[in-house]
Parts: sequence; structure tokens; C-alpha cells
Amino acid sequence: MTERAAIRSSFSRAATRYAAAAGLQRVVCDRLLELLPDRSAGLVLDLGCGTGFASTGLHARFPQATHCAVDFSLGMLRAHERGSGVTRVCADAHRLPLASASADIVFSSLMLQWCDLPVALAECRRVLRDGGHMCFSTVLLGTLAEIDDAFAGLDAHRHTVSFPAPGALAAALAGSGFTADLMRSEMHVEYFADARALLQSNRDIGASRVPDGARRALLGRAALRQVCDRLEARREALGLPLTYQLAWVVARASSGDRS
Ligand SMILES: C[S@@+](CC[C@H](N)C(=O)[O-])C[C@H]1O[C@@H](n2cnc3c(N)ncnc32)[C@H](O)[C@@H]1O
Repeated sequence: MTERAAIRSSFSRAATRYAAAAGLQRVVCDRLLELLPDRSAGLVLDLGCGTGFASTGLHARFPQATHCAVDFSLGMLRAHERGSGVTRVCADAHRLPLASASADIVFSSLMLQWCDLPVALAECRRVLRDGGHMCFSTVLLGTLAEIDDAFAGLDAHRHTVSFPAPGALAAALAGSGFTADLMRSEMHVEYFADARALLQSNRDIGASRVPDGARRALLGRAALRQVCDRLEARREALGLPLTYQLAWVVARASSGDRS
């Protein structure tokens, strides 16, 4: 299975549990909605829409626009809230089935960290008109560091994706023909009662990169115990920490840079 197919199937497996487990994702999405530019729009994309956390907010903000919710996970699209006049499209953000210069707003909450950043940003730039807005949230280097550390040396898998450093994000934006109007970042720590709850929560939001079966096959009971012990060793008064380096970006498609 290719990397992208593994990510897609992980989100599809998580689709029915996602909305209940994704408290932080909802807050991040709501904060991104607050940063939307004050302008009108003809076509608005919710890229990596998941179960549709942004749907109501995007409709309220752009009531006259055509709304298109895009995700490459059929499971997520099936779980997407319906009845809001949104067209749901199953497509990969790296290759969108949309004409160049057709969209005014690309809204994307917590999807880009799963993508090849320069490729996905260039594709967003292609579908945006000059002056169109790319509004996204993502996570940066340091996110889920506790999980990476807990599994270090125990198997051959990476258990999280390689999240970009802030400089790499800024460079990818500029290199894809965007001018950043706003970049905001913030560290957030979630706390869990125990290691099992921490790892399960990561699976429920689709963020676990190794399928459950493969994890069991690769990690014996002793190694899994070690993972739990390493997570447990970090316990604080509020529980076991899991770190997110969050970022919100509003960028404009500069003229003349469409590839
Ligand atoms: C963490 S969820 C966020 C969902 C939603 N935006 C939210 O705020 O709840 C990430 C979503 O991005 C989708 N996704 C990841 N990579 C994608 C890609 N290359 N193309 C399209 N969708 C993708 C996943 O299927 C998943 O639904």
C-alpha cells in the first residue's frame, strides 16, 4: 500500500468515531473560520473536509457562494453532514478535478500535514484565482513528539508523519505563489488518563500511521508495554501529555505565479 493509500484508509476507518474524538480539531477549525477574510466569494472549497466541521460556518460566512467539500476518504465524505447544499467530491488534494483559477477561497483545516506540502500548495494555487485566499490550519514540527519518542527504536515504522518546521512552511508558501497575510502558531497540550487512551485517541482521529493489525504483528507484548511505560514516564498532574504545535495561515494567491 502506498503512503497516501495508507493515510486514506486510516481516515476511512476512523470516520465513524472522528466527530466524537476530534475535540481539538473542532476548536482549531472554529478558530480558522474566525480568520476568514472579509470578502465575497463565488466558489469556496473545504479541502480535506472530513465530517464537515466547517460546513455550517462556511455557509454562514459565504451564503451566496457555491460550496464544494473535498476529501479523498469516502468514509469521511459519507459521514459528512448533509443537507447544507454542499457538493461533496472525492478527490486527492495533490490533483484536484477543478479548472485552474476557478475558486475564490480554499479553506483547509488540519489536512495539509498529511500531504506533500509544496505539491498540495501548488495545486491550491492553481485552482485559486489571482487574489484568491488560502486559509488553512496545520501542525508543525514537535507535534505528537511523545508518540514518536515512545516508539523510537522498537520497530521500523514512523508512527507520525514528518511535520514541517515553521521555516519550511513559510518557504513552501512563498514557493507556491502565495503571500502570507497572517501566520499564527501556538503550542497546545492534550492530556490523557493513561497510555492506552492516548494511543486510542490518536487512532480515533485517523492520525495513527500504522494499521492496528500491523502494530500487533510488529510489536510484541513486551515492546508495547515499553511504549506504555515511556508514555507513562511523562505523566504530569493533568495526565499523560500529547503535544500539538498548531498553525493558522491566511495567504493570498499572488498574481502571475500560477503554475
Ligand atoms: C484531521 S482530518 C480534518 C478534517 C476536517 N477538516 C476537520 O477540521 O475536522 C484530515 C482530513 O484530510 C483528509 N485528507 C488527508 N489527506 C488528503 C488528501 N491528500 N486529499 C484529500 N483529503 C485528504 C482526510 O481524509 C481527513 O478527512
